[in-house]
Amino acid sequence: MNKSNPTEPSRRGFLAAATSLVAAAGVGVPAAMAAPQRKDRPATGEMHSDHAGQSRREPFWGHHQGGIITPAQQHTYFAAFDIISEKREDLVILLQRWTEAAARMSEGYPAMPLPADLDATDADTADSLELAPSRLTVTFGFGAGLFQKNGQDRFGLAAHRPEALVDMPTFPGDQLVDTLSDGDLSVQACAEDAQVAFHTVRQLARLAEGIARIRWVQIGFIGDFGANRTPRNLMGFKDGTGNPPVTDRKEMESFVWVGDEGPDWMRGGSYVVVRRSRMALEHWDRMKVSFQEQTFGRRKYSGAPLSGKKESDPLDLSASDEAGNPQIPENSHVRLATAASNGGIKILRRSYSYNDGINVVAERWPPWHQGLEYDAGLIFVCYQKDPRTGFIPLFENMSRFDMMNQFVTNLGSGLFACPGGAAKGEYIGQRLFEKA
Ligand code: HEM
Repeated sequence: MNKSNPTEPSRRGFLAAATSLVAAAGVGVPAAMAAPQRKDRPATGEMHSDHAGQSRREPFWGHHQGGIITPAQQHTYFAAFDIISEKREDLVILLQRWTEAAARMSEGYPAMPLPADLDATDADTADSLELAPSRLTVTFGFGAGLFQKNGQDRFGLAAHRPEALVDMPTFPGDQLVDTLSDGDLSVQACAEDAQVAFHTVRQLARLAEGIARIRWVQIGFIGDFGANRTPRNLMGFKDGTGNPPVTDRKEMESFVWVGDEGPDWMRGGSYVVVRRSRMALEHWDRMKVSFQEQTFGRRKYSGAPLSGKKESDPLDLSASDEAGNPQIPENSHVRLATAASNGGIKILRRSYSYNDGINVVAERWPPWHQGLEYDAGLIFVCYQKDPRTGFIPLFENMSRFDMMNQFVTNLGSGLFACPGGAAKGEYIGQRLFEKA
């Protein structure tokens, strides 16, 4: 074997790490249940620069799941799964395994303690062994298909489907692709390191073998704009300014967290809507900045509303120009989306940009245009107490009138009920299975 062959994995390095891990973890500990020990974690973070907080951990256990009001990390890997087993016990085993593994990985440990047999194929894949916890959060959700699929109550849960977990309507302009939409379970990993986010979903998918399989995935990113600056989306606009502040408990209780009105297992949880919104960037980039600003109702560079001067200025929907036209146009994105135009409705947006490369386009009609187009846009993610008083009525209006629609096509869509968080020793969604 050529020792300098760059394609050979550094098995030696891996083994050195692995051997010390096994020694530290204690051989023979029942793999799935061993509590994470500080010792079975490889050195994390210390050797990394920490400009984006890679060495920091986000708590996994608690009343709420992480990744909802957690300040957004720079990378996400969002996956939806279909359940392929018909046994309810399998589902419980899966959620137990997932909870355990997600808690370990959030702490910076491998998904499971290394097995005694280092040749085993069910170990953590080791691709992020030396990487820091990177503020990893894992957020789990339950789709309608968990409760009922094709009219069948597969797991005896149909009676417990929350009313808020509706079948999503199809909105005007939607061009939804089945294989990019829905799913029985959702898993969103967010981290300050792209490899940590991917590693997390990959381990969870392996733990699901024979029980559930991936239906679709979406990778997302947000640039490093700095903690106190609103990030920009791929259209060049600051995105997130008008969000209710996550530090405002009252706002979060009113608009994001499920309270006493929901089933017990959803209290402290939330509903996530995820949409794969492709942007026609080539088209957008040809528009004058002034037109782009009319489209959103905000200034491109400063982020200020067209009725104000600073990003933090409130929208003044009644402000008009000298000709008597509203400064924030009637069909601009922010006017249509804001609470004042929607009977007080608010949602918490936590979106990521995506870039899936480029597609070849060959039009089959004159002028027979051929070319390359970006497959890029926004993975729009929003949380709310109830989608029937959140995303759905909001978007019903916006999907008809929003000027932005001419530049955005929705290709994927999902709605998932994210249960309340788990206390140490519980698994995510446990209260649902105990009740049903
Ligand atoms: C590709 C899709 C989208 C893009 C690029 C986009 C972009 C933006 C931008 C640039 C702003 C202004 C800055 C800010 O307040 O964050 C904004 C505001 C907002 N957007 Fe979107 N958005 C998209 C989809 C949606 C959807 C589907 C909804 C809800 C159904 C939505 C709801 C909102 C809300 C509620 C605001 C804040 C309005 C306010 O100031 O009160 N957006 N969006």
